[in-house]
Amino acid sequence: MALVYAGAMALELDITPFDGPLGAQVTGIDLAGPVDAESASALRRAWAEHLLLVYPGQSLDDDQLIAFTRLFGELDPPGPNPYGGPILPEHPEINVISNVVEGGQPIGNLGAGEAVWHADMTYTEMPPRGSLLQALELPTDGGNTYFANMVLAYETLDADLKARIAPLRCIHDATYNSAGMKRKGYSEVTDPSAAPGARHPLVTRHPVTGRICLFLGRRRNACIIGLALDESEALLDRLWAHATQDAFATAHVWSPGDLLMWDNLATLHRRDAFDEAARRILHRTQIKGDTVPAAA
Ligand code: SIN
Repeated sequence: MALVYAGAMALELDITPFDGPLGAQVTGIDLAGPVDAESASALRRAWAEHLLLVYPGQSLDDDQLIAFTRLFGELDPPGPNPYGGPILPEHPEINVISNVVEGGQPIGNLGAGEAVWHADMTYTEMPPRGSLLQALELPTDGGNTYFANMVLAYETLDADLKARIAPLRCIHDATYNSAGMKRKGYSEVTDPSAAPGARHPLVTRHPVTGRICLFLGRRRNACIIGLALDESEALLDRLWAHATQDAFATAHVWSPGDLLMWDNLATLHRRDAFDEAARRILHRTQIKGDTVPAAA
């Protein structure tokens, strides 16, 4: 059922949950303008509850995107630009997700290929709490983005598996991004148990909702600390197959002006490939997170 909040302006904020495992659509609000306190707290509550908010028909410039992001916490700058130099020098807080190349230099990250299931920057000690992504230019086809609910993934594990993974921590490899590109300054990983990157619990408690989430980060070069590599691989394969099943996921087919925000602790996301001759440009901000606590 839609929740409708009467805002200070003529628009009426409307939050309609998707018929699926996560997500809600938010209309009746212009995010480029100042957002009143009542609407901001309704959005925070909706984000905590639904994990993914889709705001269609927005048109924020970079300053407005930054101002809107600040309603949810401190900004977390993007990771290093794989091509060197700041991604958007006038706005170092913003990451550009794009396949466009100008003057021989990519203007953003991730290219036009598939981006595999992941959460953002979990190879850092304090991964972002959330991410916002606004579509500026899109291909006519492809480049859809999928989100999976890691609260549901945890809740549906059997009791034995929950008990087994409760004390375990996993290595979140920093070497490759979700598009399979090696990050600047890293060497090929030959032994995942020695991969560079943060070590996080496999099961965490969400700092706002207290809900327990499976926290997987990304599959490539992941390794569970204290297990033999083959045991770790078998357990991770089982957890990833469970977590990324269709029943826990929703697909987003982008339209220009869509702005999405997702909870980076309680979801995973991935993106389809698209025609590399087409232009796709999105601007992203992130909200600073904290050390990831074990749930137990
Ligand atoms: C991402 O993986 O953060 C980008 C998703 C997208 O390009 O839609």
